[in-house]
Amino acid sequence: MVKLMKILICYHSDTGNTEAIAKSMAEGLADQDVTLLPAKDVDPSSLGDYDLVFLGSGIYAGALGKSIKKLMKNITNYPPKFVLFCTHANPDPAFYQKAFKKVEKQISENNSTVCAQFHCIGENKNPQVVEMLLKTMPSMKEPLEAAKGHPDAKDLENAKNFAQSVLQEL
Ligand SMILES: Cc1cc2nc3c(=O)[nH]c(=O)nc-3n(C[C@H](O)[C@H](O)[C@H](O)COP(=O)(O)O)c2cc1C
Repeated sequence: MVKLMKILICYHSDTGNTEAIAKSMAEGLADQDVTLLPAKDVDPSSLGDYDLVFLGSGIYAGALGKSIKKLMKNITNYPPKFVLFCTHANPDPAFYQKAFKKVEKQISENNSTVCAQFHCIGENKNPQVVEMLLKTMPSMKEPLEAAKGHPDAKDLENAKNFAQSVLQEL
Protein backbone atom coordinates (compact mmCIF):
# COMPACT_ATOMS: atom_id res chain seq x y z
CA MET A 1 0.00 0.00 0.00
CA VAL A 2 1.30 3.50 -0.85
CA LYS A 3 1.89 5.57 2.28
CA LEU A 4 0.00 8.87 2.18
CA MET A 5 1.83 12.03 3.15
CA LYS A 6 0.58 13.67 6.33
CA ILE A 7 0.17 17.32 5.38
CA LEU A 8 -1.02 20.35 7.35
CA ILE A 9 -2.23 23.44 5.51
CA CYS A 10 -2.65 26.29 7.97
CA TYR A 11 -3.28 29.95 7.34
CA HIS A 12 -4.08 33.39 8.71
CA SER A 13 -6.78 35.13 6.70
CA ASP A 14 -8.63 38.26 7.84
CA THR A 15 -10.75 38.73 4.72
CA GLY A 16 -10.83 35.28 3.10
CA ASN A 17 -8.28 35.59 0.28
CA THR A 18 -5.59 33.40 1.83
CA GLU A 19 -8.22 30.97 3.06
CA ALA A 20 -9.51 30.55 -0.51
CA ILE A 21 -5.95 29.81 -1.70
CA ALA A 22 -5.42 27.37 1.17
CA LYS A 23 -8.64 25.52 0.27
CA SER A 24 -7.55 25.18 -3.36
CA MET A 25 -4.20 23.80 -2.26
CA ALA A 26 -6.04 21.26 -0.08
CA GLU A 27 -8.18 20.29 -3.09
CA GLY A 28 -5.02 19.72 -5.10
CA LEU A 29 -3.73 17.38 -2.40
CA ALA A 30 -7.01 15.57 -1.76
CA ASP A 31 -5.38 12.18 -2.45
CA GLN A 32 -3.08 12.68 0.58
CA ASP A 33 -3.76 12.82 4.34
CA VAL A 34 -4.47 16.57 4.50
CA THR A 35 -5.57 18.70 7.45
CA LEU A 36 -6.73 22.25 6.64
CA LEU A 37 -6.95 24.66 9.59
CA PRO A 38 -6.78 28.36 10.49
CA ALA A 39 -3.46 28.87 12.30
CA LYS A 40 -5.28 29.98 15.46
CA ASP A 41 -6.74 26.46 15.76
CA VAL A 42 -3.43 24.64 15.35
CA ASP A 43 -1.69 23.15 18.39
CA PRO A 44 1.93 24.40 18.02
CA SER A 45 3.24 21.14 19.47
CA SER A 46 1.58 19.17 16.63
CA LEU A 47 3.62 20.56 13.70
CA GLY A 48 6.31 17.93 14.09
CA ASP A 49 3.69 15.21 13.51
CA TYR A 50 3.40 16.18 9.83
CA ASP A 51 5.60 15.27 6.84
CA LEU A 52 4.93 18.69 5.32
CA VAL A 53 3.42 21.93 6.64
CA PHE A 54 2.01 24.69 4.43
CA LEU A 55 2.05 28.08 6.22
CA GLY A 56 0.00 30.85 4.60
CA SER A 57 -0.94 34.42 5.43
CA GLY A 58 -2.23 37.66 4.05
CA ILE A 59 0.31 40.48 4.31
CA TYR A 60 -0.63 43.27 6.70
CA ALA A 61 1.64 46.35 6.76
CA GLY A 62 4.46 44.21 5.40
CA ALA A 63 4.02 41.53 8.08
CA LEU A 64 2.41 38.11 8.53
CA GLY A 65 -0.88 37.69 10.36
CA LYS A 66 -0.73 37.44 14.15
CA SER A 67 -1.90 33.82 14.38
CA ILE A 68 0.90 32.59 12.11
CA LYS A 69 3.48 34.54 14.12
CA LYS A 70 2.06 33.12 17.36
CA LEU A 71 2.06 29.57 15.99
CA MET A 72 5.70 29.85 14.92
CA LYS A 73 6.65 31.46 18.24
CA ASN A 74 5.26 28.49 20.15
CA ILE A 75 6.32 25.65 17.86
CA THR A 76 8.12 22.87 19.75
CA ASN A 77 8.72 20.17 17.11
CA TYR A 78 9.54 20.90 13.48
CA PRO A 79 8.32 18.98 10.44
CA PRO A 80 11.06 18.15 7.92
CA LYS A 81 9.63 20.54 5.32
CA PHE A 82 7.55 23.70 5.01
CA VAL A 83 5.83 25.43 2.10
CA LEU A 84 5.22 29.17 2.54
CA PHE A 85 2.45 31.08 0.77
CA CYS A 86 0.90 34.50 0.96
CA THR A 87 -1.62 36.81 -0.67
CA HIS A 88 -0.85 40.51 -0.97
CA ALA A 89 -2.40 43.50 -2.74
CA ASN A 90 0.76 45.17 -3.99
CA PRO A 91 2.64 43.41 -6.82
CA ASP A 92 5.91 45.11 -5.81
CA PRO A 93 7.97 42.46 -3.91
CA ALA A 94 9.15 45.21 -1.54
CA PHE A 95 5.64 45.18 -0.05
CA TYR A 96 5.44 41.46 0.81
CA GLN A 97 8.73 39.62 0.33
CA LYS A 98 10.27 40.44 3.72
CA ALA A 99 7.27 39.17 5.69
CA PHE A 100 8.50 35.55 5.82
CA LYS A 101 12.20 36.38 6.45
CA LYS A 102 12.11 35.72 10.21
CA VAL A 103 10.13 32.49 9.78
CA GLU A 104 12.52 31.32 7.04
CA LYS A 105 15.50 31.92 9.34
CA GLN A 106 13.77 30.10 12.20
CA ILE A 107 13.00 27.12 9.97
CA SER A 108 16.57 26.82 8.68
CA GLU A 109 18.00 27.15 12.20
CA ASN A 110 15.89 24.18 13.31
CA ASN A 111 17.00 21.57 10.80
CA SER A 112 13.95 22.01 8.62
CA THR A 113 13.66 23.45 5.11
CA VAL A 114 11.36 25.59 2.99
CA CYS A 115 10.87 23.49 -0.11
CA ALA A 116 8.62 25.86 -2.09
CA GLN A 117 6.87 29.23 -1.96
CA PHE A 118 3.72 30.60 -3.58
CA HIS A 119 2.23 34.05 -3.62
CA CYS A 120 -0.63 35.75 -5.38
CA ILE A 121 -2.51 39.01 -5.50
CA GLY A 122 -5.41 39.41 -3.06
CA GLU A 123 -7.85 42.31 -3.21
CA ASN A 124 -7.64 44.65 -0.23
CA LYS A 125 -11.21 44.33 1.09
CA ASN A 126 -10.83 46.76 3.99
CA PRO A 127 -12.43 50.05 2.77
CA GLN A 128 -10.84 52.15 5.55
CA VAL A 129 -7.36 50.90 4.67
CA VAL A 130 -8.00 51.45 0.95
CA GLU A 131 -9.20 55.01 1.62
CA MET A 132 -6.19 55.74 3.81
CA LEU A 133 -3.78 54.31 1.21
CA LEU A 134 -5.32 56.34 -1.60
CA LYS A 135 -5.00 59.50 0.46
CA THR A 136 -1.44 58.94 1.64
CA MET A 137 -0.03 57.03 -1.35
CA PRO A 138 -1.86 58.03 -4.56
CA SER A 139 0.51 55.76 -6.53
CA MET A 140 -1.34 52.82 -4.93
CA LYS A 141 -4.47 53.56 -7.01
CA GLU A 142 -3.39 51.38 -9.93
CA PRO A 143 -2.27 48.28 -7.95
CA LEU A 144 -5.36 48.47 -5.74
CA GLU A 145 -7.60 48.57 -8.82
CA ALA A 146 -5.67 45.74 -10.46
CA ALA A 147 -6.05 43.58 -7.34
CA LYS A 148 -9.86 43.72 -7.45
CA GLY A 149 -11.45 40.29 -7.86
CA HIS A 150 -8.27 38.42 -6.87
CA PRO A 151 -7.74 35.67 -6.06
CA ASP A 152 -9.82 34.79 -9.13
CA ALA A 153 -10.56 31.38 -10.67
CA LYS A 154 -7.17 31.32 -12.41
CA ASP A 155 -5.32 32.13 -9.16
CA LEU A 156 -7.17 29.31 -7.41
CA GLU A 157 -6.29 26.90 -10.21
CA ASN A 158 -2.65 28.01 -9.99
CA ALA A 159 -2.67 27.35 -6.23
CA LYS A 160 -4.11 23.87 -6.76
CA ASN A 161 -1.54 23.05 -9.46
CA PHE A 162 1.26 24.50 -7.33
CA ALA A 163 0.37 22.22 -4.40
CA GLN A 164 0.37 19.18 -6.68
CA SER A 165 3.72 20.19 -8.18
CA VAL A 166 5.27 20.49 -4.71
CA LEU A 167 4.56 16.83 -4.05
CA GLN A 168 5.86 15.76 -7.44
CA GLU A 169 9.16 17.52 -6.77
CA LEU A 170 9.76 16.16 -3.25
C1 LIG B 1 -4.51 46.41 7.29
C2 LIG B 1 -4.00 45.89 5.95
C3 LIG B 1 -2.67 46.05 5.63
C4 LIG B 1 -2.18 45.57 4.40
N1 LIG B 1 -0.85 45.70 4.11
C5 LIG B 1 -0.37 45.21 2.94
C6 LIG B 1 1.03 45.30 2.63
O1 LIG B 1 1.84 45.78 3.40
N2 LIG B 1 1.45 44.82 1.42
C7 LIG B 1 0.59 44.27 0.52
O2 LIG B 1 1.03 43.86 -0.57
N3 LIG B 1 -0.74 44.12 0.80
C8 LIG B 1 -1.22 44.58 1.99
N4 LIG B 1 -2.55 44.43 2.29
C9 LIG B 1 -3.42 43.67 1.38
C10 LIG B 1 -3.60 42.23 1.86
O3 LIG B 1 -2.34 41.61 2.06
C11 LIG B 1 -4.37 41.41 0.82
O4 LIG B 1 -5.61 41.97 0.57
C12 LIG B 1 -4.49 39.96 1.28
O5 LIG B 1 -5.00 39.19 0.22
C13 LIG B 1 -5.40 39.81 2.48
O6 LIG B 1 -5.48 38.45 2.81
P1 LIG B 1 -6.73 37.83 3.61
O7 LIG B 1 -7.98 38.12 2.81
O8 LIG B 1 -6.41 36.40 3.67
O9 LIG B 1 -6.76 38.51 4.93
C14 LIG B 1 -3.07 44.92 3.49
C15 LIG B 1 -4.43 44.78 3.84
C16 LIG B 1 -4.89 45.25 5.05
C17 LIG B 1 -6.34 45.06 5.38
